[in-house]
Amino acid sequence: MSDLSNATPAPLGGAASGTPAVEMDGIVKTFGPVTANAGATLSVGAGEIHALVGENGAGKSTLMRVLGGGFAPDAGTVRVLGRDVTGWSTQDAIRAGVGIVHQHFMLVPTLTVAENVVLGSEPRRGLQLDGRRALDEVRALSERSGLRVPADRTVAELSVGEAQRVEILKTLYRGARILVLDEPTAVLSPPEVEELWTVLRRMRGEGATIVIITHKLDEVMAISDRITVMRHGRTVERLATADTTPTEIARAMVGRDVVLPSFTSDAVKAAGEGALQVRDLTVRDARGVTVVDSVSFDVAPGEILGIAGVEGNGQTELLEALAGLRAAVGGVVRIDGRDVGGTSVRRRADAGLSHIPEDRHRRGLILDYSVADNLVLGQQHHFARRGVMDRAAVARNAAEKVAAFDIRPPSAALPARALSGGNQQKIVIAREMGRDFRVLLAAQPTRGVDVGAIEFIHGQLREARAAGKAVLLVSADLQEVLALADRVAVMYGGRFVAVLPRAAASEEVLGRYMTGAQPRNDA
Ligand SMILES: Nc1ncnc2c1ncn2[C@@H]1O[C@H](COP(=O)(O)OP(=O)(O)OP(=O)(O)O)[C@@H](O)[C@H]1O
Ligand SMILES: [Mg+2]
Repeated sequence: MSDLSNATPAPLGGAASGTPAVEMDGIVKTFGPVTANAGATLSVGAGEIHALVGENGAGKSTLMRVLGGGFAPDAGTVRVLGRDVTGWSTQDAIRAGVGIVHQHFMLVPTLTVAENVVLGSEPRRGLQLDGRRALDEVRALSERSGLRVPADRTVAELSVGEAQRVEILKTLYRGARILVLDEPTAVLSPPEVEELWTVLRRMRGEGATIVIITHKLDEVMAISDRITVMRHGRTVERLATADTTPTEIARAMVGRDVVLPSFTSDAVKAAGEGALQVRDLTVRDARGVTVVDSVSFDVAPGEILGIAGVEGNGQTELLEALAGLRAAVGGVVRIDGRDVGGTSVRRRADAGLSHIPEDRHRRGLILDYSVADNLVLGQQHHFARRGVMDRAAVARNAAEKVAAFDIRPPSAALPARALSGGNQQKIVIAREMGRDFRVLLAAQPTRGVDVGAIEFIHGQLREARAAGKAVLLVSADLQEVLALADRVAVMYGGRFVAVLPRAAASEEVLGRYMTGAQPRNDA
């Protein structure tokens, strides 16, 4: 970057070449006692794809909210295309062409795709929303950008991948030229990730500037031009992607060497009867459509059975039915030989079932409760004496788990809402794995968590296996499944279409089953 060549700020709207698209300097942002940004800096060149990485809680999302006008910084300056915009509002940011796609979706499920895209800047005919024009405009934009969406369907009917494309379209519709994507790939299948890369590269080719937050270092290597690494609210490293390696990035993030997840499984041989036995389990959704279709399998003590599959093929419903969160219309579920079919979540927990749910906001946590209370959720009856909560025992449990699972910040009195996404996930993991259990259902256990925490969680899962627990792992991340599982089942259209020993499962073979290109292998 020839930073010296352009001392004069460009006028609004057009950056002189060399003026960074985004320059954040000395950004400080605190929340009560928590310092989220402690003097962070970020410089993003116009027309580049810039990866922002760092451990859970490093302050990435906060910094991007400061950029998007969601928070005013306590100190520091924000420049966009050379103009000082420190403390601007979200409306100002949108008008200036800064679009942010947040970590958690913000669409209205009951409205159509087109209505969601234009919401807030609707084309009007007189006082009326011009629905026809909205539909045409959204279709044209979808065509032009390569973001394929069914414009006339409601958002409730979309897959997560489609919903995300709608979020991006929404920012483009408002004329975003600087686009921030906060962990966009956490919910995407591998082909959807590839599609997103194609779209982002095309946008870059047309002069857009993109900041992307991700914990997946192979994605950083694949898509970014430059990288900013944050740690503890500060910027610790700026790297050119072409000159660095995933190992070097991980070291900068964590401050020490990290063992990156590998493709080799240190599988031990499973022994004994299925600790989890499932026979002909069938589940229907609210509309009566069969979403889990007569599925049967065993998970032995000391075994990790991985379930691979594109999201939306019944994995979520299967795990919810096993956990007792969703009724099955038929079939048998046994934990350690005990039939738990039709019993409550609590009964199953007492029979030895632990569950890391996929959607930590809906199922795993009560965001307004303290970290300490979330750490005993569902197990309150074990922390009560004569019907009264034993607060001292709850506090002792919290202190232990916060230390053992490195939950940050280490203050158990904070509401769960105040923790970063990855640290919220650690609360769920600590609660479900830090107790005595026989069978673990782990749904997307490392979604949204940083490399250090992935290493830790994978270590915990391997330890559980070594201790003779049965683990059922569902992950959209094929590398994760291949790194951990002893056997891999592929779910497609509500059925197990293949169950393969790890040695026979490659990304290519799994991919064929996942997309339905290879039919079920039991004929
Ligand atoms: N609204 C809030 N109230 C209180 N504390 C907050 C709030 N938002 C963020 N924090 C705290 O600020 C710190 C930085 O959080 P932030 O969400 O920016 O991290 P992050 O790098 O995006 O992490 P992750 O990778 O887990 O998403 C964390 O310690 C978090 O607990
Ligand atoms: Mg974040």
